[in-house]
Amino acid sequence: MTTLFVTGGAGFIGSALIRLIVAESDWHIVNIDCLTYAGNLESLAAVSDDARYHFSRTDIGDRAALDALFAYYHPAGVIHLAAESHVDRSIHGPGDFIRTNVTGTYTLLEATRAYWSSLADGARSAFRFHHVSTDEVFGSLGDTGLFTETTAYQPNSPYSASKAASDHLVRAWHHTYGLPVVTTNCSNNYGPCHFPEKLIPLMIHNALAGKALPIYGKGDNVRDWLYVDDHARALRTVFERGSVGETYCVGGHNEKTNLEVVDLLCALLDELRPRTDGQSYATQKTYVADRPGHDKRYAIDASKIQRELGWVPRESFETGLRKTVQWYLDNPDWVAHVVSGTYQQWTEKNYGDRA
Ligand code: NAD
Ligand code: TYD
Repeated sequence: MTTLFVTGGAGFIGSALIRLIVAESDWHIVNIDCLTYAGNLESLAAVSDDARYHFSRTDIGDRAALDALFAYYHPAGVIHLAAESHVDRSIHGPGDFIRTNVTGTYTLLEATRAYWSSLADGARSAFRFHHVSTDEVFGSLGDTGLFTETTAYQPNSPYSASKAASDHLVRAWHHTYGLPVVTTNCSNNYGPCHFPEKLIPLMIHNALAGKALPIYGKGDNVRDWLYVDDHARALRTVFERGSVGETYCVGGHNEKTNLEVVDLLCALLDELRPRTDGQSYATQKTYVADRPGHDKRYAIDASKIQRELGWVPRESFETGLRKTVQWYLDNPDWVAHVVSGTYQQWTEKNYGDRA
């Protein structure tokens, strides 16, 4: 029986990863998540009754609680996703980003190291700590070029700086203590269960609610979009087969300006849920003040993970975006509970603390 810790499993990507692992493997999963505003156990409804899924409401900064979880479950590895993840929030309040992304990762690394050091030889060498990071640590590209595993770190926002710090801690724990780590740096994700503060779910929600679609600056900033289930498959691939000490860039080869993304979303909504007045959702587009320090362009060269581990994305942007819009249309309760805040009551009522 293989038991795996997933931190941040109630978030957007963590919940997709847990749904994938429970469906496609026989592993036991312990979801370690303190349920910030971004943690939503409704995203795990599909697996919550599975005997191989376990949940602990634990902060990754709580060393004693982590030690107890390691002692109880004896995991074969950790996939670490818990983080504060929204750039705009990091601009308005960077403290939580330092606390969770930097200090929290440090505390998790130390708890992991203590447990890993106590393992017998075979289990020690088989153990993996997989750190899930972002391409935003590399800073901003100009009109040409791609991020690779050897691109120098130049983080620009408090979010990306805190993630860069965590990447460096993970690297140091490998080089100094020998902890068997792998790191992935992924581009922007989109898909089901995405909190409607990020571009794509915010635009879908606002469009359907008849609200403005706020485009920062001229809408010409470029992001490289990856469907969340493709990222989840990449994470499983790297966790299982990645080389210790290596980093892997993960991306979808889907560079789009923000304006292109919003226009595609409006066209899909016009087709799938036309406005009752016959107008296009595109009439709701509104240009607003730019984000301070707004990175111009992100784009990933994912050839290493393709060449060495055989991972390629399955979804194109067009197929993935259509699935995403359809999911939001089919799951109005998920969004309504987030918008009203009742998802947090639902969480308390249905789960509380199972640890
Ligand atoms: P998210 O904000 O949706 O979820 C984060 C989860 O972490 C939430 O469930 C939250 O409750 C939990 N969490 C936060 N602080 C915690 C703490 N102190 N202790 C325990 N749990 C805590 O984030 P996401 O978009 O799913 O991103 C997951 C990871 O992937 C992050 O590390 C992020 O940096 C990285 N990443 C995200 C993207 C993206 O496009 N969203 C792209 C590349 C990498
Ligand atoms: P976001 O989803 O916040 O991801 P990130 O900042 O991590 O890339 O934003 C994606 C892009 O969309 C980014 O260039 C900022 C822009 N954006 C808007 O134009 N309007 C919005 O309301 C939001 C949330 C983002």
